[in-house]
Amino acid sequence: MASYDVIVIGSGPGGYVCAIRCAQLGLKTACVEGRETLGGTCLNVGCIPSKALLHASHQLHEAQHNFVKMGLIAENPIVDWTKMQNYKKDVIEGNTKGIEFLFKKNKIDWLKGWGSIPALGKVEVAGELHIAKHIIIASGSEPSSLPGIKIDEKIVVSSTGALELDKIPTKMVVIGAGVIGLELGSVYARLGVDVEVIEFLDQITPGMDGEVQKTFQRILKKQGLKFTMGAAVQSVSTKNKTATVTYVKRKKETEHQVEADVVLVATGRKPYAAGLGLEALGIEMTKSGQIQTDANYATSASGVYAIGDAIEGPMLAHKAEDEGMAIAEILAGKAGHVNYNVIPGVIYTHPEVSSVGNTEDQLKEQGRDYKVGKFSFVGNGRAKANFASEGFVKILADKNTDRILGAHIIGPMAGDLIHEICVAMEFGAAAEDLARTCHAHPTYSEAVREAALACGNGAIHS
Ligand code: NAI
Repeated sequence: MASYDVIVIGSGPGGYVCAIRCAQLGLKTACVEGRETLGGTCLNVGCIPSKALLHASHQLHEAQHNFVKMGLIAENPIVDWTKMQNYKKDVIEGNTKGIEFLFKKNKIDWLKGWGSIPALGKVEVAGELHIAKHIIIASGSEPSSLPGIKIDEKIVVSSTGALELDKIPTKMVVIGAGVIGLELGSVYARLGVDVEVIEFLDQITPGMDGEVQKTFQRILKKQGLKFTMGAAVQSVSTKNKTATVTYVKRKKETEHQVEADVVLVATGRKPYAAGLGLEALGIEMTKSGQIQTDANYATSASGVYAIGDAIEGPMLAHKAEDEGMAIAEILAGKAGHVNYNVIPGVIYTHPEVSSVGNTEDQLKEQGRDYKVGKFSFVGNGRAKANFASEGFVKILADKNTDRILGAHIIGPMAGDLIHEICVAMEFGAAAEDLARTCHAHPTYSEAVREAALACGNGAIHS
């Protein structure tokens, strides 16, 4: 029976980052993981493998559409699906092995197996009992399906199955125009698949800035994705390797059917805490099935904490990581803190989409006096050279104080560009602070500066 200061259950971005920070702060730490590799959903069947396929399929798109414009002749590039899958596997392996190395470096014990909490201060893994002063649940989330839809991970797949289809399908129906549906839908559309996205609402990516939603949908349509909006999927049946999706158009209340050889169900994720024994410990849950925590990530059971997708808030790897670091610092007697107002969101399509802080709709709801500084990538020299001039940067700032309240970007490297605005917001900066900061030329970042200039006396290149 080993004894620890901290046992973290789950080795996804929340759990492994938490374990490393605990160890760095001098706490004797172990991390429980039942998968064969560390890294959780993100590294094994989520963020990392999807980015590998997004990267590979984007290269194909470039070869098919832009190479010839630059005088590069690479006619009819061929997709070797097995090799692409192997590339993806190598990327996963490189990342998961990296976490194993970091655990060794930081002297963190990997307790192999699925953990449970049989009593306060105790964690059981593979029949062995371990003692911990503090237990941190970082058990993550799992895909949530719809009633009437059974996921078999072959024909009717979640994101997990969609990442390892045994062949490239001909027709794919994606249920849900959220982050997963659009990222994976783009991968397959670029690989030549006829992709139809069926979405319940009248706009894609709920919660995102309205102008970005419209531009994004227009660009995706141009890339070949088809959209059926305002349609509630009722059921999916399968016969002879073909799926039939039944949906109802909400306004007309008419029923329709569409056939596909693969259906991706991307209608959200739900917290995963199966087998941990939370009920027996009397741990309180929220109405939506998340583990209830206080501002310091403490659950209702003494010495048990929870972070990441298993608790409230956006289901994002980096939100989980920040919570992992914060709880480690709190347990080490320091001031751990997460600024939930400055958590960026990124969609890794091409172009990328990113956002931080308030949307215009939210500011209107709050009755805030705000101004908008917008700059199109058409006026950015680097974007023009790279055939990447679709999209814009939009900065929202307080009309009176000029303080940045939010930012929304659709365009090249939007997922990276957003961070200078995040840093500015952390420091409570005004749009003028960004506008007065010298930005190297020629970079995509100049578009951020121009949007900041547009909050004041005007952008230069528009
Ligand atoms: P989501 O919540 O982003 O989108 C689900 C979509 O399905 C919504 O637009 C919803 O209106 C639609 N829908 C629900 N029921 C429907 C029905 N019966 N018929 C038609 N449409 C229906 O969920 P998604 O894309 O599955 O992602 C799950 C989580 O994973 C999210 O929290 C997301 O933030 C996270 N994630 C983040 C990524 C990133 O940061 N790049 C990448 C992948 C996932």
